Amino acid sequence: MSLATWRKTYPDADTLARAIRNHSWLATLVPALRVPSVVAVEEHAIVFERVAGVQVGPSDLAPVAAHLGDLHAAAYAADLHRGPLEREAVVDLPNGHRHNIPGFLAGRANIVLSRVTSGAARGSLLDPDSAAALLHDGSAGPAAIYKDSNPRNLLITAPATGPTPSCPVTIDFDDLTLAPFGYDLAKLIVGVAMTTGPVSDHLVSASLNTYNDAVRRRVPDLPDVSAVFLAGWTEIHHLLTFPYLGRNGYRYSWDEVRPPAVHAAALSLLRPRVRPSSMSAAGHDPIPARHGQLTTSQPVDRTAQPGDTSPRQPPGCLDSASADDSASVACDGEC
Ligand SMILES: Nc1ncnc2c1ncn2[C@@H]1O[C@H](COP(=O)(O)OP(=O)(O)OP(=O)(O)O)[C@@H](O)[C@H]1O
Ligand SMILES: [Mg+2]
Repeated sequence: MSLATWRKTYPDADTLARAIRNHSWLATLVPALRVPSVVAVEEHAIVFERVAGVQVGPSDLAPVAAHLGDLHAAAYAADLHRGPLEREAVVDLPNGHRHNIPGFLAGRANIVLSRVTSGAARGSLLDPDSAAALLHDGSAGPAAIYKDSNPRNLLITAPATGPTPSCPVTIDFDDLTLAPFGYDLAKLIVGVAMTTGPVSDHLVSASLNTYNDAVRRRVPDLPDVSAVFLAGWTEIHHLLTFPYLGRNGYRYSWDEVRPPAVHAAALSLLRPRVRPSSMSAAGHDPIPARHGQLTTSQPVDRTAQPGDTSPRQPPGCLDSASADDSASVACDGEC
């Protein structure tokens, strides 16, 4: 019986080659990460194994958050702990080649700051100063990845047998950069809300908890992502994803659907605070110094919320083995 396939075309050879390398690194990073196999590589297309699954919806948020936390901690433990996240990382691929993963700020900081300064995104809660501070402070923490976890880029498959929760299959290997922990979780939350409508504070809180739990399970020393940082990242994604409203399945603007506690947490970023003079938003120079501000904001609420039926354990989609099992590209698109 022949394997059902999915053919994805690419605009140029570089984009295709980068997707292949991203796939290769991610596929071997965590042995149990579920990705479609590459069946063939053509001049302008990659033929993937076809995945029988559906896009992520609100009920998948908490388990998929656990999946992301486990993946991010695995990436950190395997390779990314070696360097700061504002600079590109060089990682080894199974074929012996090396692969560059662009840093977090490259191509991203300028877009964020120009959009926040011009007021391009309706209802943004960030001002230039708070956006610059957020990028700076976030870049001082440990490095995870951004793989554009919009709800179309993770497919939920039916469990093979028994009561095991459905597991996400990771697809779309086009975009991969370094990012702070929590950044891609914020993309997932914003992407789901923009696609299907408002998500509750309970769901956001449960997702953050399952994410942090999964990270800590794999690398106990990593600090939790705070609710304030998560809210800040959702605002950055609002700035970056707002232009796609009406396309890509996005029917709601984040400013219409962000839940109240996330709104309040994002507003707290606007409070005046003392920062190094190099962080002047007027200079628009968010090049970070490494310092440990990541854990200084609000503690995470770990209490179970009413109506929170999300699992407290990861869904078993990645193996839970120990942590050691394991050219700069401009930000383009929903970064
Ligand atoms: N291997 C696959 N098996 C089954 N369906 C797939 C596969 N790859 C992609 N798809 C389908 O196509 C959709 C978009 O795929 P992909 O994310 O790779 O393309 P894209 O150009 O980035 O589009 P988008 O902007 O919607 O994410 C997925 O959400 C899924 O429905
Ligand atoms: Mg995609």
